[in-house]
Amino acid sequence: MKIAISGKGGVGKTTISAFLIKALDGMGRKVLAIDADPSPHLARVLGFENASGIRPIAEMQELLQERSERNGPFYKLNPKVDDLPEKFMQQKGNIRLMVVGAIQQGGAGCACADNAVLRSLLNMLLLSPDEDIVLDMEAGVEHLGRGTIATVDHLLVVVQPYRGSLETAKKIQKLAEDLGLNHLEFVANNVSDEEDLQFIVSELGRQPVAVFYASKDVQRAERASRPLPEACPKCLEAARELVEGLEKKE
Ligand SMILES: Nc1ncnc2c1ncn2[C@@H]1O[C@H](COP(=O)(O)OP(=O)(O)O)[C@@H](O)[C@H]1O
Ligand SMILES: [Mg+2]
Repeated sequence: MKIAISGKGGVGKTTISAFLIKALDGMGRKVLAIDADPSPHLARVLGFENASGIRPIAEMQELLQERSERNGPFYKLNPKVDDLPEKFMQQKGNIRLMVVGAIQQGGAGCACADNAVLRSLLNMLLLSPDEDIVLDMEAGVEHLGRGTIATVDHLLVVVQPYRGSLETAKKIQKLAEDLGLNHLEFVANNVSDEEDLQFIVSELGRQPVAVFYASKDVQRAERASRPLPEACPKCLEAARELVEGLEKKE
């Protein structure tokens, strides 16, 4: 199952990604985690050793220059990336993690040559057979092309019970629809009570596929820099139910 997670900054994408990754791992699945956030910290919340020392591929200027064969305005559209996983993949137990970093949107001033390398890498990773994938992204889906989007089985948009996060979620929904993606689900996070949940449901006009409650355990673990998945068994259970819910939709 290939899951991409998006939503407004700070809504809990990385947190929910971590629980999903651990839940899949606990179900005996082969999991490939991809961190495509501009400030990646999936390694830290998953408790990878030397997490702060992992350099995102997006920051490896020399490598990107070499692979894109950039020369003035010209660059390779199909750069060589097939050896990169072996070189840069992190592993903890059975969980594999690739820290890609920020893939920028096209347009004025875009780092098109670098993006061609990063996109190729992301597309190659997403095509990996017999592995479950959890892709932790930045807010939107605009940096993903149609081809990339088409390989994702479920786009999860994380929301919290406040208007800003719901407005962003609706924008993402619109963009995803424009890209031809119709397997989008909302996940409610940091919900304290029924009133919070009702607000989310009334704003979205539909039920979220999963609900993660506001958790003191998560808060404490984050403050103490402890791995999240072990800190909140209830959250892990919610993630497992989420996986089962998504499977039923397939
Ligand atoms: N359900 C939750 N209960 C308590 N704290 C949470 C919960 N979800 C996320 N957080 C906290 O909110 C902050 C932002 O979460 P994070 O996953 O980094 O968001 P994002 O990846 O969307 O930017 C973190 O400090 C995280 O520990
Ligand atoms: Mg994040």
